[in-house]
Amino acid sequence: MAEAQQIPAQGQADLRGFRLISGHTIPSVGLGTWRSGPKASDAVFIAITEAGYRHVDTAAEYGVQEEVGHGLSAAMQAGIDRQDLFIASKIWCSDLAPDRVRTALKTTLQDLQLDYLDLYLIHWPFRLKEGAHKPPEAGEILDFDMEAVWREMEQLVKDGLVRDIGVCNFTLKKLDKLLRIAQTMPSVCQMEMHPGWRNDKMLEACKKNGIHVTAYSPLGSQDGGRDLIHDPTVTEVANKLNKTPGQVLVRWALQRGTSVIPKSTNSERIKENIQVFGWEIPEEDFRALNSIRDQRRVLDGEDIFVNKIHGPYRCAADLWDNED
Ligand SMILES: NC(=O)c1ccc[n+]([C@@H]2O[C@H](COP(=O)([O-])OP(=O)(O)OC[C@H]3O[C@@H](n4cnc5c(N)ncnc54)[C@H](OP(=O)(O)O)[C@@H]3O)[C@@H](O)[C@H]2O)c1
Repeated sequence: MAEAQQIPAQGQADLRGFRLISGHTIPSVGLGTWRSGPKASDAVFIAITEAGYRHVDTAAEYGVQEEVGHGLSAAMQAGIDRQDLFIASKIWCSDLAPDRVRTALKTTLQDLQLDYLDLYLIHWPFRLKEGAHKPPEAGEILDFDMEAVWREMEQLVKDGLVRDIGVCNFTLKKLDKLLRIAQTMPSVCQMEMHPGWRNDKMLEACKKNGIHVTAYSPLGSQDGGRDLIHDPTVTEVANKLNKTPGQVLVRWALQRGTSVIPKSTNSERIKENIQVFGWEIPEEDFRALNSIRDQRRVLDGEDIFVNKIHGPYRCAADLWDNED
């Protein structure tokens, strides 16, 4: 299958957008909104109207969809066309049952004040009981019927409520299973990716199957994350190119053929993070960034899905099918 995500979308040279397997275009830099809280509304408005973002990433679980919705509608009132925006959201684990998928989407659309989503993603491939604790108590992880849920996701596309569907936090094993049952292909796989966790094998598997990859936590994530902004290799490349470490990390993701969704609620950093076009990281510096040691995830899901005594997942490696 074609390596769709490697082809810059028509009329959008310099990696400004990637063509999805569906034929739609995903703008390559989107605004992340996890932990943006009440600032999400202003952040979205500024990103779209002042910084030029056309892609916003959110999720039901972030608890900011209403704020994101306010930002979006303010931007549209300021003259931005809905069709020029790419809005992605995610279905949370407690809604991963066939009879809940449509209702969950309707709530998301209502909160975002939209009548369709550009992309609807399965947030994590595990089903949680409503109100599950973190970490989950015995019996709070339920069976996830991937095939039945995917059929419902496919129906949302047919009904015009969602333009593309996809997944997050998948392994090779789970992707293989999904590809065997899918009638509509997942257009996007969203995963943690940065020079401290390149996850090359998932990137390659997605490329091989024409699935576009979006890199999340591109700066190493937030509280308790990995401080890539002060990583010596990143700062060295940034100084050499006269760019900021944030810009180098975002541009690194683009040059790997992935879209990327840095989060910021700070107007200067929101603007900084999208100034990544018209220049590139030269080959030798790109290679240096690809050689950062101590490859490890920041977000391994342990705090949400692992119950060390009762399982069914007793450690993070179980969540990732022991592939890392
Ligand atoms: N699918 C999933 O399971 C999943 C999981 C995690 C994340 N995501 C998505 O990916 C997005 C990004 O990931 P993330 O939120 O984990 O973290 P991130 O984008 O890697 O990093 C955000 C942190 O970096 C700071 N920051 C932003 N720009 C900066 C710059 N230029 N220089 C220095 N610091 C900067 C932000 O603070 P300020 O806000 O103060 O600037 C914030 O503390 C999320 O918001 C979410 O939309 C998806």
